[in-house]
Amino acid sequence: MRRRFVIFLCLLNALALAEDALPNLIGNVAGRTTISLDGTWNTVVDPVEGGLSARFYENRRPKDNRDLVEYSFDASQKLKVPGDWNTQRDSLFLYEGPIWHQRYFSYHKRGGIRLFLYFGAANYLARVWLNGTKLGEHVGGFTPFNFEITAAVAEGENSVVVEVNNTRHADGVPALSTDWWNYGGLTRSVELIEVPGTFIQDYSVQLTKGMQDEVSAWVQLNGDHFPQEVRVEIPEARIRQEAKLDGSGRAEFHFRAQLQLWSPENPKLYRVIISSGEDSVSDEIGFRTVETRGAQILLNGKPIFLRGISMHEEAPFRGGRAFSEEDDRTLLNWAQELGCNFVRLAHYPHNEEMVRLADRAGILVWSEIPVYWDVDWTNPATLETAEAQLRENIARDHNRAAVILWSISNETPVVEERTNFLKTLAGYARQLDSTRLVTSAMNHPEATGPNSRRLNDPLGQFLDVLGLNEYVGWYERTPEDADQMQWSLAYDKPLIVSEFGGGALYGKHGDAETRFSEEYQANLFDHQLKMLEKIPSLAGMSPWVLMDFYSPRRYLPGVQDFHNRKGLLSERGQRKQAFYVLQKFYREKMAAGK
Ligand code: GCU
Repeated sequence: MRRRFVIFLCLLNALALAEDALPNLIGNVAGRTTISLDGTWNTVVDPVEGGLSARFYENRRPKDNRDLVEYSFDASQKLKVPGDWNTQRDSLFLYEGPIWHQRYFSYHKRGGIRLFLYFGAANYLARVWLNGTKLGEHVGGFTPFNFEITAAVAEGENSVVVEVNNTRHADGVPALSTDWWNYGGLTRSVELIEVPGTFIQDYSVQLTKGMQDEVSAWVQLNGDHFPQEVRVEIPEARIRQEAKLDGSGRAEFHFRAQLQLWSPENPKLYRVIISSGEDSVSDEIGFRTVETRGAQILLNGKPIFLRGISMHEEAPFRGGRAFSEEDDRTLLNWAQELGCNFVRLAHYPHNEEMVRLADRAGILVWSEIPVYWDVDWTNPATLETAEAQLRENIARDHNRAAVILWSISNETPVVEERTNFLKTLAGYARQLDSTRLVTSAMNHPEATGPNSRRLNDPLGQFLDVLGLNEYVGWYERTPEDADQMQWSLAYDKPLIVSEFGGGALYGKHGDAETRFSEEYQANLFDHQLKMLEKIPSLAGMSPWVLMDFYSPRRYLPGVQDFHNRKGLLSERGQRKQAFYVLQKFYREKMAAGK
């Protein structure tokens, strides 16, 4: 009875949230005229969630000395946006709950201009008001959302209030337990976007699946009066194509084109201009094809080996959620120094700048949504949340050539309700984007002998590429046992070993059997790389992990201190011995043309 009541409550909650469902996401905000609302915001920490009933969103000031108002944004402590609150104030390091964010902005309204309020991300639940009027809600900590405020914005001073709540939920995505820090806050930029009355909501311009000399594109307008046509131009390739809009403001294009193909060796990006009526937006887009053939991943029709590394969106040196180009560039430079042509952005969509940098640097990307470990598989609200994060992730990055893999989950139990949940997600990913590959990181291979394992997880049938997380030599057996280990697959599909590794504290030395010594980690990598090389269908790897990162599950004083120490670099960028073991392996691969 109680369980049914709880499910009923969640459904109610989902329906309420769905009603506030977001307007369509504006594509390529980076290519738009925006007004930044980044900077210092007033904040009220609300551990007992009293702010809603106290109507904090009104940002009320006492009318006179008798008037009782028991909060004040103006007099409250400040936080920087973008940024997580945990690393900005020691008292908030472990804080989970709501914090109310408020700032003023002045705006001059102009006829024919529509205005949107855009958030790069807010972890986890965000409720948003403008001048006391509720705009809506958003669930999910790692994808963008926007609200139209053309009607709600005032001439002159405006007050925006955002309640951000990073409380974990059993029906959430992710759910209650993660091996990363649950950073709360407005973790990415907040902007005002000005667009004409009818504007280009979103578009996709890329090679037709499996073809290297034909472009397929669509453009979706948003507005009441649609112009006749829309134009796609690629000036450098002397391409200028027009197409008629249908009644819903959508146009489709298919045209021949001889374009340089984007690849890690030649990350060629073309300036692409989309224009229609009063609106025009430009983007930097690479053109490449990606597909599988048996156990191979083909980039532009040729087999490629993914020399990768997994990473969290954690800021080097200062810790906290990374958000700046500088943070991203440091992390990607370290990956390139390792010899990588591929990164697994774990376990949630990282910031857009990271993906655009990968596009420019020629680094292939595995992009993942945080269906992590166990979630509430039978709960429709949880599936809705996962689908929304997938939709928003794909909507934001579908024009990035670097992104080749949409990952729908990490290390989930082999139970029927989970496989059904993920089957649905895999289908949804293909519906949203049929040009990329769908994958997932699995970690339940069957032991078919003392030294043999078979990856036959039923989820594999719904994936284009199989991801395998294995920790031989760390969570099980010894590093040397990897030498005997034989791996086989139940599917004729490419395999990416999406995680392997072990912990080491930078500067801790000992023999190769001493846990957390650099020697142990380096020795583990040595045996792992030899083991993996023997797997015939191995198409790539992304060892765990580039850099040590904060985790609430790592307690060992003097060694972990709330850090997962499996990084090949410390959080201060110090290279551990294993860094050079992997670098040497990748350099040999490159020398062999792989
Ligand atoms: C898992 C998981 C990671 C985690 C890692 C570890 O495989 O996917 O999120 O950090 O193992 O235990 O270090």
